[in-house]
Amino acid sequence: MVNNPFILYGYESEKYFCDRKTETQELKRLVTNGNHVALIAPRRIGKTGLIENLFHQKDIQRDYFTFLVDIYATKNIEELIMAMGASMLSSLRPKGAKVIQKFVNILSSLRTGISFDAMGNPTWNVEIGDIHLPRTTLDEIFEYINTADKPCIIAIDEFQTVADYHDDKVEAILRTYIQHCRNAQFIFSGSQRTMMGEIFLSPSRPFYQSTSMMNIGCIPVEKYSKFAQGLFKEADKDITTDIIEKTYQQFDGITWYVQRVMNEFFSLTPQHGVCDETMLDTAIKNILRANEFTYQSLLFQLPIKQKELLMAISKKGKAQNLTSSAFVKKYRLTSSSSVQSAMKGLLEKNFLTSNLGIYEVYDKFFALWLLTQR
Ligand SMILES: Nc1ncnc2c1ncn2[C@@H]1O[C@H](COP(=O)(O)OP(=O)(O)OP(=O)(O)O)[C@@H](O)[C@H]1O
Ligand SMILES: [Mg+2]
Repeated sequence: MVNNPFILYGYESEKYFCDRKTETQELKRLVTNGNHVALIAPRRIGKTGLIENLFHQKDIQRDYFTFLVDIYATKNIEELIMAMGASMLSSLRPKGAKVIQKFVNILSSLRTGISFDAMGNPTWNVEIGDIHLPRTTLDEIFEYINTADKPCIIAIDEFQTVADYHDDKVEAILRTYIQHCRNAQFIFSGSQRTMMGEIFLSPSRPFYQSTSMMNIGCIPVEKYSKFAQGLFKEADKDITTDIIEKTYQQFDGITWYVQRVMNEFFSLTPQHGVCDETMLDTAIKNILRANEFTYQSLLFQLPIKQKELLMAISKKGKAQNLTSSAFVKKYRLTSSSSVQSAMKGLLEKNFLTSNLGIYEVYDKFFALWLLTQR
């Protein structure tokens, strides 16, 4: 039993995972019928969680090898290859010596970077400099995939990152490998809607029409309520539907924020106690306090004009027409051209998100904290 059933990082088991039943079935249907899938949704909705949930299904575990590769921090094809190799090795590790041996034998270009301890457990020590010829190593990785003992499902998470690589041939290279790969289906997941859209929907891009598109939305509030109440009950605690709905509304139903607040509610509620309206303020204060240091340093690094604009947007909540004279005047900003350039800076640094001309502070807790500042 975990201490707090509202898991904040990683995946435990289906018990601590709310709903996503139809989404899991849909994703399973697509990949087990030979489709590659582009999974696109806003940040923190639960894309990675959905992939984990699929990978934990009994039949998937029985019939497939599954790999989850997060490429968020990669900057080039060498780092992407490293991320793939490392994640494959760690997923194969529990499957025993024979499976590992085969993988290591095929990845002969990286042999020196994979070591074995006394128990025969492999560790990945490959350094970026070990990848002398990316194509050779990619050939090996795909040779392994094509000859693996089971078909593979490979999820490349934060896939939009490849669009930021300096080398613009990477998409084409990957596309070619994937096209010729007979033993794996790929899931490409990502959140920057426009970037993912461009990769998969522009006729001029290599991945055009190569994948099925799948979007996921918020978990319905009734489903989340049932889930949360169930977990409270199991610990001899209770929570009102009202407070769950209120929290859900406040954070637009975005899974991470709701789950984070529930985690706090759970720890604030004593055994046999009931969590109700009165706890919302305290819970949010606690969360903001826990992040105070981070928020302060984030704010500190911003140029003054960006800081002012960010404050203004946090006051407004969802803001439109930022460069209009009305907005500039209301929040006492310098000028519409200074707002324009501040906006650009904030968007680039991911402090802001924009959707159809509506701007919001990207991190909803950060936005609440900004409101507590002058
Ligand atoms: N179905 C679920 N049930 C319970 N909690 C969930 C569920 N889905 C997501 N979460 C919670 O929300 C958090 C964010 O989910 P996840 O990492 O899957 O989102 P994401 O869409 O991949 O986000 P990002 O765009 O930041 O990568 C998880 O760490 C988990 O705490
Ligand atoms: Mg994710």
